Amino acid sequence: MQKKLITSLLLGAFSMGAANLYAADKVWITLGDAAYAELQKLAPKTIAKESKVLQSGGAGIMAQEKVHLVQVDESVLLGLSGAIHHKLNRCGGFMSHTSEASGRAALTQPMQMMALLAPSYVIDNQATVTPYLTQMQDSNIGQTIVDMSAFPNRYYTTTNGVNASNWLKTKWQQMSSARSDISVAQFTHAGWAQKSVILTIQGSDNGSEVVVLGGHLDSINLNDRSESAKAPGADDDASGVASLTEVIRVMLANNYKPRRTLKFIGYSAEEVGLKGSAEIAAKFKADNVNVVGVMQLDMTNYKGSAKDIYLYTDYTNAAQNSFVANLIATYLPSLTVGNDVCGYACSDHASWTAQGYPASMPFESLINQDNPYIHTPNDTYANSGSQALGALKFARMAMAYAVELGSDGAVVTPPAGVLIKDVAVSFAGAAGAQSKYTFAVPAGASNLSFKMSGGTGDGDLYTQLATAPSTSSYLAKSDGSSNAESIVIAAPAAGTYHLLANAYAAVNGASIVASYSTTTPPGCTPSATVLCSGVGVSGISLALNASKTYTIVVPAGKSSLTFKLSGGTGDGDLYAKLGSAPSSTVYDGKSDGSTNAETVTINSPAAGTYYLLLKAYAAVNGASLVATIQ
Ligand code: BES
Ligand code: ZN
Repeated sequence: MQKKLITSLLLGAFSMGAANLYAADKVWITLGDAAYAELQKLAPKTIAKESKVLQSGGAGIMAQEKVHLVQVDESVLLGLSGAIHHKLNRCGGFMSHTSEASGRAALTQPMQMMALLAPSYVIDNQATVTPYLTQMQDSNIGQTIVDMSAFPNRYYTTTNGVNASNWLKTKWQQMSSARSDISVAQFTHAGWAQKSVILTIQGSDNGSEVVVLGGHLDSINLNDRSESAKAPGADDDASGVASLTEVIRVMLANNYKPRRTLKFIGYSAEEVGLKGSAEIAAKFKADNVNVVGVMQLDMTNYKGSAKDIYLYTDYTNAAQNSFVANLIATYLPSLTVGNDVCGYACSDHASWTAQGYPASMPFESLINQDNPYIHTPNDTYANSGSQALGALKFARMAMAYAVELGSDGAVVTPPAGVLIKDVAVSFAGAAGAQSKYTFAVPAGASNLSFKMSGGTGDGDLYTQLATAPSTSSYLAKSDGSSNAESIVIAAPAAGTYHLLANAYAAVNGASIVASYSTTTPPGCTPSATVLCSGVGVSGISLALNASKTYTIVVPAGKSSLTFKLSGGTGDGDLYAKLGSAPSSTVYDGKSDGSTNAETVTINSPAAGTYYLLLKAYAAVNGASLVATIQ
């Protein structure tokens, strides 16, 4: 990093002093040794709660780094960002943590530099990649940079920061609206308004393996964090998001269908301690998502150094980094590649590394020749030369990475008639033709689904637990007039489900896929009386007038809490209440129809323990219950 302006450090220190008069909101952060030394100048009384030498994976003296866990006033962080950027001769920042425990976890977690099961890094998709690379255009990338940097700022707490997230969501949605295997969603962060944006291309036959490509959508002006601040963030990091957007555009133009699932992410709140990516990576980890590779594009369009691309070797995965170098040598042989290190937590790749996922961070310059305009009102497209040729190089590299990793899949050939979770099988036949399958569903699964899609004709689906269904006897069916069929059982009983696919009219080229989720939310252990979001309870039976009370803990900032009773026979009713057990006369919400099909939804639930009373108005047999917090 360039040693220059100390103004913002001084301003940072001033504003810190002022803020100290008012708020003393404490936050936990982990930070590298050099940043810790800066912190001690800003807040001399700060004492590390824990310090640990981490293997950073960098070369030479950067192979290890001492990292500290401290609790500081939130206001100190403002000064710290400035100090790190302007005083240190290298980059790298700090990671914010929501609790002391998660900060300690960041220190104790074995920083897993090598994936346990590295994916294949064989380069064998030239026929796909090469034509895609020629279709990629710098002008599109330039336009996206111009559009994003037109927001006066994208700071994570500002209105414009929120608007920029919404803008990106809409842009990616519009680009991908024709594809049913692509979804665009915002990831809500409980602590601040700006959402991350995630575009998912569902893998065709190895969808449980995930490849992540990301950049951060927020920006910062280190001297002004107000609503009216100017922080165009053209290079940092509209350029990374714009590079990814061009990858998406060309994939879609060619109707590319990856075998693994691809996720493109615009992270919120990178500039304030990797907050957005930390939450996302932690959520993926908690959900046991098998992320086989992560690439971070943060600053791709400013040519600060002689070489085209620098692969940062610290807090990244060495095996994947050499794969990326091989990709460049294969597909972009005219580009030159160097290495450098950026220090503890310099961008969102570090959030993934901290969770044990293999990540890489290709960057536009050496660390001590970085773009001098970042984090100021001067990080404009003009100051990157009003061109996007640099970003185009990174976009092409990212395309090669996404297609080479995205096209791999474990070849799964299930025995005939046995469905494997998330693995599609094809279905075709003349009118009246039938195919029969079985599908094993474990205890605690929720949202069991059987879906048919694609091709022509009119196929229908019928399912039943333990015994084969027919078109007249089934637990659930979907018999619309096309091949678009979907059966969803919210809280399925465990066991073997039988599926009948029936060609009502001749079917050609359809596929069928069965799935369920088994996600137990972190910190929740289901029991006979404790419900966890998304984890179904099945086989519920209650005598006439008998009742049962469950509890569920709802975190702050959630938009809805839903209890859903279904299946079985009888007439169960639901009553829900915050803080204490409801009765059939005292409740916050109820559903008391004349069957077991009951749903209670509480919008914007308060944080706390909700109690659910399930009462048998008539005897209940074999019903299922699931609570969902969103
Ligand atoms: N894009 C920068 C990271 C960067 C800047 C890398 C210059 C290499 C050279 C990123 O947005 C950033 O500013 N990171 C902060 C850390 C963050 C946790 C506050 C940094 O590196 O100081
Ligand atoms: Zn930055």
